[in-house]
Amino acid sequence: MKVLVIGSGGREHALCWAIAKSEKLSTLYCAPGNAGIKDVAECVDIGAEDVDGLVAFAKDNAIDLVVVGPEAPLVLGVVDKLEAEGIKTFGPSAAASVLEGSKGFMKDMCAKAGVPTAAYGRFTDADQAKDFIRKHGAPIVVKTDGLAAGKGVIICQNEEAAFRAVDDMMGDKIFGDAGSEIVIEEFLDGEECSFFALIDGERALPLAAAQDHKAAFDGDKGPNTGGMGAYSPTPIATPDICDKIMETAITPLIKTMAAEGCPYKGVLFCGLMVKEGIPTVLEYNIRFGDPECQVLMMRWKSDVLEALQAAAEGRLDDITLDWHDETAMVVVMAAKGYPGSYKKGTVIKNIDQANAIEKAYVFHAGTKADGNEILATGGRVLGVTGRGTSVIEAQTTTYQAVDAIDWSEGFCRRDIGWRAVERERLGS
Ligand code: AMP
Ligand code: GLY
Repeated sequence: MKVLVIGSGGREHALCWAIAKSEKLSTLYCAPGNAGIKDVAECVDIGAEDVDGLVAFAKDNAIDLVVVGPEAPLVLGVVDKLEAEGIKTFGPSAAASVLEGSKGFMKDMCAKAGVPTAAYGRFTDADQAKDFIRKHGAPIVVKTDGLAAGKGVIICQNEEAAFRAVDDMMGDKIFGDAGSEIVIEEFLDGEECSFFALIDGERALPLAAAQDHKAAFDGDKGPNTGGMGAYSPTPIATPDICDKIMETAITPLIKTMAAEGCPYKGVLFCGLMVKEGIPTVLEYNIRFGDPECQVLMMRWKSDVLEALQAAAEGRLDDITLDWHDETAMVVVMAAKGYPGSYKKGTVIKNIDQANAIEKAYVFHAGTKADGNEILATGGRVLGVTGRGTSVIEAQTTTYQAVDAIDWSEGFCRRDIGWRAVERERLGS
C-alpha cells in the first residue's frame, strides 16, 4: 500500500514510525513531515492545511490510504475532498469534525446521546450568560464555543471572575470570533485522563487510556500547554472504567452521530474527569492526542496500518489488537520560553545516543535538518519516549534518554507520571 500521513508533529512521527513497520506498506509519504520523520517516510513539501495541494498529490501518486494527524485539515474538509476523488482516508468528515470545532455542538450531541457530561448552557447574549452564572454559582467554567488554540477555557473560582470571562470573550472578543458564542458549564472535580477509540462509522474499537500533563512546569504549575508528557496505561483508567467509558461515552455518541447524519470515522479522543470510579466527559477531539499518540504507538504491537485502513473502510469487525504489557512514557522537550515566545534554530545534539538506549525512542515534533545538524523549529521540539515493566521503570528509561540529549536551549518537566509513580510507591 502507498500511504500518505498529513502533519509535522510528534504525533505524526509516531504514526509514521508505527505504520512503517507494517508488512502491507510499500511507500510511506508524509506532508510536510520533519527531520525525524524523514528517517521513516519520504517527506513532501506540502503544508498540512493546503487541502488542494494534498488532494492533488494523493491523486497523482495513487495513494491507497491517507492518514490525517492534526485537526485543522479535518475541519477544512480534507477527508470529504479526498473521498470525493475516491481516495480512502482515515479521519472524520468536516460535518463530524464540528465535534471538536464547536463546544456547543459537542454538548448538544452529548445531551442527545445521554453521555454523562457537566451541566451547561450555550449563550450568544452576555446578560443571559451572567444570569446563568448567578443561578449556578462558582466554581464555574466559561468556554469559547470555537477553537481558541487551547486557551478558550477559563475556570472561575468566583462569580466576579466568571462575569469578567464573559465580558472578555463576548465584549472585548479576546479570542476573536471563537468567543461570539460561549458555553458555561458546571465545574467538575477529579483526575483527568484521555481515552482513545477507533471508529468506522458504526463500530468502535477501544485503543487505550493515557494521562497527559498540560501545565508547563513541575508540580502542574505554570501556563497550560499542548501537553508536556504522557504515559499509558494509567492506573486511574482501570479496565472497569475503560468499559464504562465505552458504554457511556463512546458507543452512544457514535450511534447518535450516525443517526444525526454525520457518522464518525477515524480516531475519537475523549477527555474525561474520573471521580470515585465514575468517568464524566470533558471534551471530544477528532484526532490522536499529542503527545498521547507517542505512547499509544510505543505500546501498540499488532499492525497499526491494517487497523487504520479497516476503520477507514468500515471493517473494524475484522480487527483484533495486540498491545505490549509494559508502560510507555513520553517526556516533551520544549524550547525555553514555550508556551510563550522562544528562539528558533538552536542546535540539538546526541539524539542518536538517546535512541541507542534500549526501549527508548525520540520522536521529533518541531525540528528540521540542516546538513548534519538538527535544528529546533517549534515550541514542543522532541518527544522522548521509553517503555518499562512499571511506571517507575518507564520513567527511569525515559529520563535516561532525555539526559543523553544535548540541547542547552531546551527544557522539560522532570515529574511526568508523578501520580502513577506515587501510587506505585505506595503499592496501591
Ligand atoms: P477542554 O478543552 O474543554 O477539555 O478544557 C481544557 C481543560 O480545562 C481540561 O483539560 C480540564 O483540565 C479543564 N476543564 C474543562 N472543563 C472543565 C470542567 N467542566 N470542570 C473542570 N475542569 C474543566
Ligand atoms: N495532548 C492533548 C491534546 O492533544 O489535545
